Amino acid sequence: MKVLVVGSGGREHALCWAIAASPLCDRLFCAPGNAGIEREAECVPIAVDDLDGLVRFATEQAVDLVVVGPEVPLVLGLVDRLQAAGIKAFGPSAAAAAIEGSKGFMKDLCARHGIPTAAYGRFSEPGAAHAFAERMGAPLVVKADGLAAGKGVTICATLEEAHAAIDEALVGNAFGAAGAELVIEEFLEGEEVSFFALVDGTHALPLASCQDHKRVGDGDTGPNTGGMGAYSPVSIMTPALEARVLREIIEPTVRGMAAEGNPFRGVLFAGLMICPGADGPVPKLLEYNARFGDPECQVLMKRMMSDVLPILLAACEGQLRNASARWYEDAALCVVMAAKGYPGAVVKGTEIHGLDEAAALPDVTVFHAGTARGPDGTILAAGGRVLGVTAIAPTVGEARTLAYEAVERIDWAEGFCRRDIGWRAVGR
Ligand code: AMP
Ligand code: GLY
Repeated sequence: MKVLVVGSGGREHALCWAIAASPLCDRLFCAPGNAGIEREAECVPIAVDDLDGLVRFATEQAVDLVVVGPEVPLVLGLVDRLQAAGIKAFGPSAAAAAIEGSKGFMKDLCARHGIPTAAYGRFSEPGAAHAFAERMGAPLVVKADGLAAGKGVTICATLEEAHAAIDEALVGNAFGAAGAELVIEEFLEGEEVSFFALVDGTHALPLASCQDHKRVGDGDTGPNTGGMGAYSPVSIMTPALEARVLREIIEPTVRGMAAEGNPFRGVLFAGLMICPGADGPVPKLLEYNARFGDPECQVLMKRMMSDVLPILLAACEGQLRNASARWYEDAALCVVMAAKGYPGAVVKGTEIHGLDEAAALPDVTVFHAGTARGPDGTILAAGGRVLGVTAIAPTVGEARTLAYEAVERIDWAEGFCRRDIGWRAVGR
């Protein structure tokens, strides 16, 4: 098979790393890729939102399967365009990607199908939004409806903060069109876990659980980021709880989307809050993403024993019922190294050394998230999140020790990482 992966982050490096290992893959392209992906795939300089360019390239090269990493091309309709051109593509249609692209769409879907989630309202008019916030009382959560690059959610401890967040979006236009409509919802108390399933339109194949670390600083402090590290599996996600998530959340979503003429194909990434309840933990849905998480994908690919390519293909072809995924029992953990200043402005072009020394440790893979190759071959930082140092070992604690050992071998003065990835699991 000829395969094209779309994207340039750590998630796409992990996907390319796994797909390149498949005996089914003859030729692998990545658009636009990065300096690490270059080792696995032929990188082609086409941007992820250049739909015309991507469709043209896939057609010219007679690509057998396109795997779309990020949400932006999904929401823009890349999968629809590829399918119209007769090319198989892994990922949802634009209509189905609304499950991530519009929080209001996702909440209404939950309401129609009895899927447990926080109580909410949808608003485009400030007066009604303020009145709803008063009725709900603090704490509450104010969310821009559309894609806002991870910045559209405000946790409001007080009503004053909620009123300010409402005005910022609806009056101040802080999120542009993405924030012209808001979802205001109940604040849920509990522990967050991500759960991933592949979906082929009618059938869901559960993958695994992960825990992300969204805040930039140790001890979950500082501003939100795309994710500073992740590990898998998560021990609070017991087999019984996982079965409940499938029964109460994932499967009703798959059935509901299909029944409404919007079948979902691709990865369903459920952001869950595991809420304490009188009869044990209760899983509730915080959000859906229509793609793999980044850095969650790095730990999932490290733990997956099966060849990923036929499973992705089965999801495209409606054949997941006949597919299965086998996993290493071991835990995988990924430490993200970012350029100083992230998630704010960062300096680009600083040199990174020691990558081969880090990767020489057994059971360690250094995924590149934002790198470029300098004229003399030196690896340069080219983004906010730059590397995903990923290790696999029998326990989360051992994977963490190994990942930080690899981090120590990386010589990059202008980079930083959190020192406490996996702290919940290690504490348990
Ligand atoms: P979202 O983009 O909807 O996942 O929101 C980003 C983050 O905000 C989540 O990962 C949670 O940490 C937090 N969050 C979102 N919704 C809620 C909620 N209803 N209750 C508590 N925390 C929330
Ligand atoms: N790490 C969170 C995300 O990919 O959305």
